[in-house]
Formats: sequence, C-alpha cells, structure tokens
Amino acid sequence: MRVLVVGGGAREHALAWRLSISPSVRKVFCCPGNPGTARCAENLPQADFDGIDGYCSELGIDLVVIGPESPLIQGLATFLRAKGRTVYGPEKGAAAIEGNKAMAKELMREAGIPTAAFRTFTDANAAREYAAAAYAAGRKLVVKASGEAMGKGAIVTSTLDGALAAIDECMVKRSFGESGDTIVIEDKVEGHELSLFSLRGLGGAFLAPAVQDHKPAFDGDKGPNTGGMGARTVIGELTQQELDELGATFCDRAAEALAMRGEPYVGTLYAGLMMTPDGPRCLEYNCRFGDPEVQVQVRLGDDDWGELLFGLAMGRSDLPAPRWAPDTHCVAISLASGGYPESYTKGLPISGIEHAELLDDVVVFHAGTREEAGALVTNGGRVLTVTATGRTLEEARTKAYEAAALIRFEGIHYRTDIGL
Ligand code: GLY
Repeated sequence: MRVLVVGGGAREHALAWRLSISPSVRKVFCCPGNPGTARCAENLPQADFDGIDGYCSELGIDLVVIGPESPLIQGLATFLRAKGRTVYGPEKGAAAIEGNKAMAKELMREAGIPTAAFRTFTDANAAREYAAAAYAAGRKLVVKASGEAMGKGAIVTSTLDGALAAIDECMVKRSFGESGDTIVIEDKVEGHELSLFSLRGLGGAFLAPAVQDHKPAFDGDKGPNTGGMGARTVIGELTQQELDELGATFCDRAAEALAMRGEPYVGTLYAGLMMTPDGPRCLEYNCRFGDPEVQVQVRLGDDDWGELLFGLAMGRSDLPAPRWAPDTHCVAISLASGGYPESYTKGLPISGIEHAELLDDVVVFHAGTREEAGALVTNGGRVLTVTATGRTLEEARTKAYEAAALIRFEGIHYRTDIGL
C-alpha cells in the first residue's frame, strides 16, 4: 500500500520510518516531512486540505496518517473521510478532546474518569478570586488555556502570584489568542507521569506500550516544561492487568463518552496520566501519538504498522493484536537548541548523525532540521531525537547517550538523566 504521513517533526519521521519498514507498505510519502523523512519517504511540498486530497488522487494513496494535533483539530480527517479517503486520525469533534480542554474536563467528569479538581472560567476576575481562595486553602494550581496552544498552554504554578500571572497571560495579554479566552484551572497533582496510548478503530482498539515522558527542560525534572526532553519504556513497573485497567478507565471510557456524543474515535487517543499517591489522575488527552513517546514505540517489535493502522482506519474487527516486543527497552533523548523552550537560534550546522547511527541499535529521528546549501542545520527547539534499544533500560540508556555524544551543534542541550 501507499501511505501519506502528514506532518514534519520527529513524530512523523518515526511514523514514516516504521511504515517504510512494514511489509504491507510499498511506499511512504510525507507532507511536508523534513530531511530525516526524506531518507525513508518521499517529501511533498506543504499543502492545504485540498492539496492533501489532491496528493491522495495523484499518488494513489491508500492510507493517510495524520501526525500533529493542529490539522486534526482543524478537521483534516473529517475533510478527507468525506472525500472517501482512508484516514488514521480522529475527526474534528473527537479531536476536540485535545483542542478544547474545558470540554475534555467535562467529559472526564461525565464519564467518571479520575482527574484533578477543576473549574472553567471565561471571566478573569472570577478566575483570580478562585485562585486566591485555592492558595489561601493551601492548594497549588495549574492554569490551562482551553484551546490549542502549541504545547505551551498549561502553566504550572506554585505561588498565587504565578497563578495570577498565568491568568493574565491567557485572558488579558491573550498570549495564546482566543485559545486562552476560556481557561481551565485545576489542582496541581504530584507524582510521576505516564503516557498511555490507545490505537483505535471502529472495530477495536489496542493499547500501545506505555512510555514515560520527561517534560521539564533540565535534569532532575527542573526548569520550564517543554514538549518532551526524552522518553523511555516502562517495563515491569506495572503488570499487564494494571495497564489494561488503566486503558479501560482512561482510554475506553473517554472514547465511549465521545461516541455517546456522536463522535466515534478513530486514531490514537493519548491519555497523559499523573501517577499520584492517591492513584492515577488524567492530566489531559491528546488526539495523536506523543512526541517523543512514539519515537520509543516505533523501535519496539516487528508488528506491521501499515497493516495495523490501515486495519484500524478501515474499522476491521479481526485484526491480530500487536505483540510490541514486551522485553525490549528503549530510551529516547531529545537534543534541543540552547535556550529552548524559550528563544533559540536556528540555522546552526549539525554534524555526527551518521557516526551516531553506526552504533548498534541506534536510530536518530529529525525534529527541527533543514537543509541549507547542502548542509544540515538546526531549524527548531527540539532538533533531533536519539533512540536506542536494549535488553535492559540501562543498556538502552548507555547506547542512547553514547550516540548523543557523537552529535554536535552549537548550544546543544539535552538532559542527562533520561531513563535513570
Ligand atoms: N510528549 C508530549 C506530547 O506529545 O504532547
């Protein structure tokens, strides 16, 4: 089959790479892709919805896999399905579980999904009063822009001043545009994060291997939150029964609640959990694969991802359950530009990827790179994801860091404690 992957980051490179080695897939295209996807797929110029539909006709595309949240939230899957395309990715109404955080929290409440206590506000004064009362009672808060905010709309605060500044950021300065006109304020919950992924079709759903993401910029989970500075497999820390229970509570219940609202879910439903001393709580839902989590997942096992995603998109109910490789560990390290997630310089030459990839069990995915006069240069906050597999987490971690040390660009920054 011929597959079109929409997007151009490390998540899409990972998906295109995995699809390109799937026996059922003859050719992968990527729109717009990046210099990494160019090695395993044919890159196509950026296109709008009509343009993507045009590519499907011209190139005989059998399956479209949509990577990032933005086109999903804007309705690309809805548009393409109405044109008769086979698409892996949720339609606009279902993708709102990521694009509309106030709706997602209501859905959690309605479906009895454990989540942090919250209130939704459209009035800044009411939000400020709520925050003042919460801090007076000894609680800490997270302020979230309800709409899409490029991963920057959740502001974790430990002081009332911080919460008030976050409310102003969203509702007065309107740093996230209309996405911050409605905000969700929720109680901060403590613990470690676990990302849970349910790969869903109308005929069935499979839980992908759980992965731990590391969002803070610096070692020891210090510093501002980022899109994700690294990820690792979580093997042996939860039993399969515990994982299945988490999947049923956090993924199946949410998908069923959406279906009850007339929004059946096809695609990846990603539940971001906090494992607290009082039990797991859902922090947020995303309507897509995680980045860098999928860079870990694609490195596992020998299942045919083409067959899997196509079968789910077609609503098949007889798909064999993926095996995933339960004993393979993987560590992914994001190599970021100096200054990320704040301001950073682009256009800096990158070297050493080819040496890193000579190491056993290492694959490097491109996130923010571009080619300039025949040379590879930085083009984003997160530049590359270095992944390595091993029989133990320590082995995977050692290989990943050996590989990362071979890659250079000015100002390179990465955490040194992923997988510890
Ligand atoms: N790793 C966080 C995300 O994909 O949203």
